[in-house]
Amino acid sequence: MNDRRAVAVSVVSPGDAPAALLAELRETLSAERRPLIGFATGRTFANFLAGLARAIASGGLPVDAFLATHLDEYEGFPPDRRGGMAHELFTACPPLAALHARSAFAPVPCVAEAAAIGLHEQRLAAMGGVALQFVGIGRNGHVAFHEPGVPLDVGFHVATLSATTRDDARPRFAPAEPPARAITSGVATILAASRVVLCAFGAAKAPAVRAMLVEPIAAACPASALRAHPRLRVLLDRDAASLLPKEFL
Ligand code: GLP
Repeated sequence: MNDRRAVAVSVVSPGDAPAALLAELRETLSAERRPLIGFATGRTFANFLAGLARAIASGGLPVDAFLATHLDEYEGFPPDRRGGMAHELFTACPPLAALHARSAFAPVPCVAEAAAIGLHEQRLAAMGGVALQFVGIGRNGHVAFHEPGVPLDVGFHVATLSATTRDDARPRFAPAEPPARAITSGVATILAASRVVLCAFGAAKAPAVRAMLVEPIAAACPASALRAHPRLRVLLDRDAASLLPKEFL
């Protein structure tokens, strides 16, 4: 599906995004019994995760209605280590930690070992496969930690983080240096989800969003490969959408 206009792009105000994402989650919950939800980390999803925590705490959404996992983890960062991705999710949305305690949250392994990665993939399959995957995008067009230049048919793999990715992560780890490697979903992992919702907010993401939606599909922008997904939704704010041609808006 190379027709760029076929991708569903919505432009929302950042304030409305959490409700739109919660609505996506509710739709998946109404279509499937205890689906596996793939969460994403980063500032992009912080308000959504806080909103999800509130919805669960107020009884508006039963936490046991879904199983959970996420996209990627820094090497050497188990779920209880600050700075890691699972730790970030548990802090932003404590009900996800409760799911983990009940073995209903599958953390991405933090060891760069094929056996651990294989077991994780088996676990996701046993949980039914990812029904709804939330995804952000890096300034360099990465998705999860699938970095530019890595072939687009790759699934879970050990990523060597690019310079821009490490620069963006530096404040999170200061005064220590950010990790050099991560264990990550690849484009092929994300394409295997039944529904994919990619979000990008802010002007810094505009060039990556343009490369994703307008340029030819290529490993130089891993996110571009998600255009092949039949049920992809792209949720942007005005700034992130600012370099797109009019036909997208
Ligand atoms: C990291 C994560 C990505 C995320 C990206 C953007 O690189 N591996 O999954 O999309 O950060 O993060 P932010 O939402 O903070 O811009």
